[in-house]
Order: sequence, then structure tokens, then C-alpha cells
Amino acid sequence: MVVKFSERVAGIEISGIRKIFEAAGPGSINLGLGQPDFDTPQHIKDAAITALQEGKTGYTPGNGIPELRAAISKKLWRENGIKYHPDQVLVTAGASEALHIVMQALVNPGDRVLCPDPGFVSYASLATIACGTPVSVPLTETLHIDLEKAKALMDGAKIFVLNSPANPTGAVEDKESIRAIVEYAADKGVTVVSDEVYEHFIYGKKHYSAALFGDNVITINATSKTYAMTGWRLGYLAASPEIVGQCLKVHQYCQACATSISQYAAVAAYEGDQSAVATMRDEYQARRDLIWGGLVKMGFDFPKPEGAFYAFVPMKPALTQKIIAGGVIAVPGPAFGVNAPEYTRFSYATSRQNIMTALERIEKLVQ
Ligand SMILES: Cc1ncc(COP(=O)(O)O)c(C=O)c1O
Repeated sequence: MVVKFSERVAGIEISGIRKIFEAAGPGSINLGLGQPDFDTPQHIKDAAITALQEGKTGYTPGNGIPELRAAISKKLWRENGIKYHPDQVLVTAGASEALHIVMQALVNPGDRVLCPDPGFVSYASLATIACGTPVSVPLTETLHIDLEKAKALMDGAKIFVLNSPANPTGAVEDKESIRAIVEYAADKGVTVVSDEVYEHFIYGKKHYSAALFGDNVITINATSKTYAMTGWRLGYLAASPEIVGQCLKVHQYCQACATSISQYAAVAAYEGDQSAVATMRDEYQARRDLIWGGLVKMGFDFPKPEGAFYAFVPMKPALTQKIIAGGVIAVPGPAFGVNAPEYTRFSYATSRQNIMTALERIEKLVQ
């Protein structure tokens, strides 16, 4: 039997990043991965072990256990200065699920979803899966959102996806840019979906949550990057009660609830000692300096990454292929949209030793 798949799913590509890993030879240094190389802090693991031992292994309330929603509400006030009642928090299976259910709850067929391009691989695909039309928002030379071009696209759009600090560029938007986007979007009736998963990994600048500047914002975040918990699949969205109510319906039917054990661990993450986050931040900054300094010395000209753990480097595709074949895994720009055909993303979520070896290999290839 020939199965006729839905056009919206058949028409999207499997993530370009997977293909690179498959093409890499043995002994390659992996600068392709977008996940922390640190282990989850022990006190968070201990909370999960306790939850398991206490038999907290059943379904939880669909929107998340009350103690976690309270902890997230407190975190959003303490760290971000934004007030969300615990009932305005919906706990999800990572930021990925939060992005998915927001698109499902808001997007009607053909609705325009403005996505940074280059941007995180999921935004445009999730918009397409929701039957929306993803629209590329171009970046400036310094890889920040091009405000004027963004504003020009806003008329009649449904969602503006904001991601600061950004994957794959490492750019951090200024307070005034974020304010301008949120206020302009409010004027045009556009909802801003603010993906803040890298908020703690910023090297010099300050993070501003989009929700500081308007109530037309859905805040999305996760334990994944902040606490080195990518495999625990635990994130959340925070929004108006109306939005949370609609998103909860999608969440209940596709997910039921986030993993119970991960929810108890996340309470420990948000309420416990935060020193591991600062330690990881400092290490990422040292690695950022190492990789940026090394590549600039070789003649690559690009802005110093301001946050997240990526260097987004202008580079001809032929050289990118040579580098991958030469034993350094990196992700070519086209994986992140249509606007960066001649860029390559290097992740520095790996040891300084690996970064130094990778730089040595690259140097030999560019000579
Ligand atoms: C910008 C951005 N948002 C969301 C995610 C997904 O996060 P999670 O693992 O919590 O689903 C990633 C993962 O790489 C990301 O880079």
C-alpha cells in the first residue's frame, strides 16, 4: 500500500544537523552539537532519585506539579522581573514542545509566522506543521535582528519569534531592540514568542525578557541548557491565562504531562544552589574567547559571539565541507534557513582541549 502522507509533514526536511553527524569520520571533533557537555548538577539528580524512590512515577496534573509551577513563577520574578501567577505557567517536554503547542494553539492555515533567518531549526518547521507560513526575518551584518525589515514584515503576521541569545548566531539583542519589537508587534496585533533558553549564557551584555515590555508575549524557557538537562525534557511556557488554557488542550492530548521525575528534579534546579550555572557560564566564556580568537587569527572576520555557545562564521561551503572531511564536525549555514548559505556554525559546548585540536586542524586546511 502506498501511504499518502500529509503534505505539510512530507514537505519538511529532517534536521540538516543529523546528516552532518552521519557524514563525519571516526576521530572527528564534534563542534556540531547544540547541547551542554556538562553533567546535570548532583543536587538535581538527587531530587530525581528521591522522587523515584518515593514512587512519584505516575501522571501529574497536565499543566505540571503545583510546586514546580510555583518555583518557575518565583524564578521569572527573581531572575527576569516578570510577574506570572503559577497558573500562567504550563510545564512542557522541553522548550521544543512549548514551541510546538504554541504554534498549534495560535496558527490558522496560512497565518504568517515571522522567524529569524538564520535561526533555530525548529521555528519554521513547527510553523509549517501548524499549517502556517514561515517568513524569514533577515539579520544585520552583525547578526542581530534587522529592526526596520522586521517591522516591515509585521503587518498581518500572527507570531514573531524572538530568540535572544540566539542560536546559531550567538547574538544578544539590546534592551531597546527587544522593547521596539514587542511594542511594534503589540501595535500590529502580533504575538511575540520569546525563546529564552540561553538567557544565562551571556558574556558581557544583559538579558532582557521580552515580557518586560508588553503583554503580547509568550515566554518560553527550559532547564535544558541552563542546568545541562537536555535529556530530561523539561521546559515551560508562561503567558496569559487565555493562551495557557488553549495551549493546555494541545499539551494534554499530545503529551498528557511532562515526565514526573523530571518535574521534581526541576523544582530542585530552580529552587536550589545556582552556582553551577555561573561555573558553566564562565567556562563557556573562556571557550568563546578561545574559538573566536583562534578563528580571527586565521583570518575569519565575524563579530564576537555575545551569548549561547555558538560561533557563526562566514565561510565558503567548499571550505566547510573540507573542514568536516578533515575531522571537525560543524553545521553548514543552510541548516538554519535561506539567508546564510556561506556561514558555518561551530558549537563550543565542548572541552577547551577539543576546541584547540579543532583549531589546529582547521588552520592546516585554510593554509
Ligand atoms: C534556541 C533554541 N530553542 C529551543 C531549543 C530546544 O530546547 P529543548 O531541548 O528544551 O527542547 C534549542 C535546542 O537546541 C534551541 O537552540
